[in-house]
Amino acid sequence: MYRFLLFAAGVAAGQSFERDLQPLFRKHCYNCHAANVRIGSLDVETHAGLMRGGNQGPVVVPGKATASRLYLTLTGAMEPVMPMGGAKLNESELAVVRAWIDGGARAGAAGLGWGGNVLAAGRGGNVVILGASERVLGTVGAVRAVAVSADGKYVAAAGRLETRVWEVATGREVSAVERGADALTVGVDGRVVAVERRPLRLGDRVVEGMDDGRVRVLRASDMAELAVLGTLGAPVTGLAFSSDGLRLAVLREDGSVRIEEMQ
Ligand code: HEC
Repeated sequence: MYRFLLFAAGVAAGQSFERDLQPLFRKHCYNCHAANVRIGSLDVETHAGLMRGGNQGPVVVPGKATASRLYLTLTGAMEPVMPMGGAKLNESELAVVRAWIDGGARAGAAGLGWGGNVLAAGRGGNVVILGASERVLGTVGAVRAVAVSADGKYVAAAGRLETRVWEVATGREVSAVERGADALTVGVDGRVVAVERRPLRLGDRVVEGMDDGRVRVLRASDMAELAVLGTLGAPVTGLAFSSDGLRLAVLREDGSVRIEEMQ
């Protein structure tokens, strides 16, 4: 089986915003700082919101937890101590926040689409066209799924609350709807033609990303396992078939993309 590493984008291994911080913030903070309740103008629900900061500006200094108001208000070194009115985070929770900020405070990669010769991925709130020179096509709050039309002309991306479509050549946004999705496909006319859930199906094959970084290939008729592709690594967060269906691109949370040959 032929495979190669196409690119390894700048998301460091280690703590992940989506995997490690979001559950912790959900438990302790969303009552007061989320997309729909922003006390002090602070939204810690998404990476983009957290990096924007609150009334007094940014609360995270990437690479430096001990200079970040987010970390200092959690340890009690700075007022107002957080979470306000709740129990302090325990040592291991504080260590997670600290390690994430010290590691660069990056968003994980999620969502991958492939059409024609265009491969696009979501990274934090950005939708990025991959290749020798990467470019940001647009933004969607916390990208979950990305799709490219078969001719490579359009890219669609969905977050929790919205779905947007852009024309690749011009970067023009062609549509936006207030509806999120976990997976989607976009037609050559630029319209989002289907909103599906993972795993991904192509003909009689179903592929499913695993938390250990590998991909399981199943037979659609009886879901029997046919193969396990890839090597151990960060969790799979995006899958996309090439237009001819012969290759499968696999995105991992650390931003790396591998191309697997389908048999
Ligand atoms: C019960 C409500 C409540 C909860 C729960 C809460 N906060 Fe706060 N938070 C506040 C209030 C009120 C302020 C002060 C806002 C202001 O005056 O600008 C604040 C301010 C902050 C600030 C400083 C913002 C700035 O711009 O200086 C940070 C950082 C912060 N909170 C983080 C958190 C985190 C992280 C959690 C969860 C671990 C959390 N908070 C949980 C109510 C809350």
